[in-house]
Amino acid sequence: MTDRSLAMGVDVGGSGIKAAVVNTDTGELLSERLRIPTPNPSTPDRVSAAIGRLVRRLAKGTNLPADVSVGVGLPGVTIGGRLVTAANIDPAWVDYPIADKLSKALKRPVSIVNDADAAGIAEMRFGVGAAKRGVVIFLTLGTGVGSGVFVDGMLVPNTEFGQMEIRGRPAERRSAAASRVRRGLSWKAWAMDLDEHLQRIEDLMWPTLFILGGGVSKNADRFIPRLTTRTPVVAAELRNDAGIVGAAIVAAEGLADAATTFDDLRGSDGPEGPRGD
Ligand code: BGC
Repeated sequence: MTDRSLAMGVDVGGSGIKAAVVNTDTGELLSERLRIPTPNPSTPDRVSAAIGRLVRRLAKGTNLPADVSVGVGLPGVTIGGRLVTAANIDPAWVDYPIADKLSKALKRPVSIVNDADAAGIAEMRFGVGAAKRGVVIFLTLGTGVGSGVFVDGMLVPNTEFGQMEIRGRPAERRSAAASRVRRGLSWKAWAMDLDEHLQRIEDLMWPTLFILGGGVSKNADRFIPRLTTRTPVVAAELRNDAGIVGAAIVAAEGLADAATTFDDLRGSDGPEGPRGD
C-alpha cells in the first residue's frame, strides 16, 4: 500500500458523524469506525469541532503520518471547498470555507465532497456497481435523498435528484427513508412514493441501473420488489461504510481538485459569465 492509497474518511450525516482510516486500494477500514451524534444545531463551528475531535482521535490511535489527507462527505452541493446548498443541515453552512478551515485546524490536506457522491464512488468501486458501464444512478435514502450519477464509472458531481420537484415539493420529502417513518407509512405505501420519484428520474435520464443505498437498503426486500420502473433496481452492498470509504478515496486521489470552483461557474466577466456564442 502506498501513501496515496491511505486517507481518512469522514461522513457527516443528519444523525451521526462517522470516521475511519481507509485503505483506498481495497476499501478496507484500517482503524475502528468512530461514530458520534451530529451536534444540534448542526452549525459549521460545532460540526467542524466534532470532526476535529474524531480526526485527532483516529490519527493518534493509528499513528497516522502527518501528511495523510482527510476527505469529508457533506449533505449538499460542494464546490470550491464550500457547501453552496444546505437542504438538510444548518443554513450557516452555505459559503462557509470548511475545507480551508479544517485543513488549517488539522494541519492536513482536507477535501470535501457531496455525501451521496462519496457513497456512490465507493459503491461503484467496491460494491454492486463495480465494473458497471453505462449511466448508473446511485441514490442514498436517509434523512434526505442524495444522488450520484456515473457514466462508465466516472462521476458527474453534485447532482441533486432529491431536490427535484414532485407534486409541488422537493421529492425527498416523500421518498427519503426518514419520510416513511415520519409519516408512519407502510413499506408498500412508501414504495409507491419512491417509485414515482424513480420513474420521474428515469424519464429524464434513461439510466441503465439504479442502485439504492442508505441504512434502509438492509430492508431492500420490503420495497425493491414493489417498484415498477423499467430500469433495473438493486440494493447497495456497502451499507454503513460507503460514505467514509468514498470520502477517503476523494482525499487520497485528489478527485475534488478536478471540481470546478463556484467562481469558474459564474465566470470572470460579471455575474452572467462569458456567453458561449
Ligand atoms: C441534499 C443532498 C444530500 C442528501 C443526502 C439532500 O437533502 O440536498 O446534497 O446528498 O440530502 O444527505
